[in-house]
Amino acid sequence: MTPTDSAEPRHRSPSSRADFTIEQDWGAYDEEEHAIWRTLFRRQEALLRDRACAEFLAGVAELGVAADAIPDFRKLNAVLERRTRWSIVAVPGLVPDAIFFEHLANRRFPSTCFIRRRDQLDYLQEPDVFHDLFGHVPMLTNPVFADYMQAYGEGGLKALRLDALERLARLYWYTVEFGLIETEAGLRIYGSGIVSSKGESVYCLESPRPNRVGFDLLRIMRTRYRIDDFQETYFVVRGFEELFDATRPDFTPYYRELESSPDLEPGQIVPTDRVLNRG
Ligand code: PHE
Ligand code: FE
Repeated sequence: MTPTDSAEPRHRSPSSRADFTIEQDWGAYDEEEHAIWRTLFRRQEALLRDRACAEFLAGVAELGVAADAIPDFRKLNAVLERRTRWSIVAVPGLVPDAIFFEHLANRRFPSTCFIRRRDQLDYLQEPDVFHDLFGHVPMLTNPVFADYMQAYGEGGLKALRLDALERLARLYWYTVEFGLIETEAGLRIYGSGIVSSKGESVYCLESPRPNRVGFDLLRIMRTRYRIDDFQETYFVVRGFEELFDATRPDFTPYYRELESSPDLEPGQIVPTDRVLNRG
């Protein structure tokens, strides 16, 4: 081992497996890593009680994801496999698109294992275990959302063949990562990029600045997004059935149709938008 090797964080060793999976090695986390999880969990728990959707909060409770420690994937899998036949697999970081979609299509969610450093509590561009596990996995306990994620994986493999990945990535971004849902109690969060962010959990619901627009599949697939700042537009579903039903048809003709529509800017509003507020 060279000095450079030992400076590499643990839990990030590259995989030698064809599907990019690694072992979580839960026993190797140290106290400081569990303490960072605890800080992140506690502050999101307080913020999300009245901001996240009921499905997300129920998932956290059901999985037993808690403040005490970084979860052990094996324990979560025992619950998740029984509940929706999904499982979590450990990966070292972002994996190639085809590998990612292949996992989703087989109801496996690839999650990183490493946790951010203390000086990165509020923002980290790459996904870590707090984003992947706390952000994504609770929604996988919801049967409709669980089926949507599998269908998305199958759709991803198809989009790769059709050279339409950018379109489909926008759908993931504006639903799985940054989606809002309308409930009887008002707007609530389900997107993983929001629930794992302290600032955006408040901003997305309470700031007058961003647009909140009704879910519209083709409109979303035309809309560019920003990865370096809070969103300028959030798309709002009326329920997860709406999302699943709208995405059920074959996208091949949609991709063709979209070739003649210009892209929309992240903050742009068009006349067909069902605008819930105007930023
Ligand atoms: N129905 C889509 C297709 O034919 C697949 C898909 C489902 C994509 C759900 C995204 C979400 O490509
Ligand atoms: Fe994510």
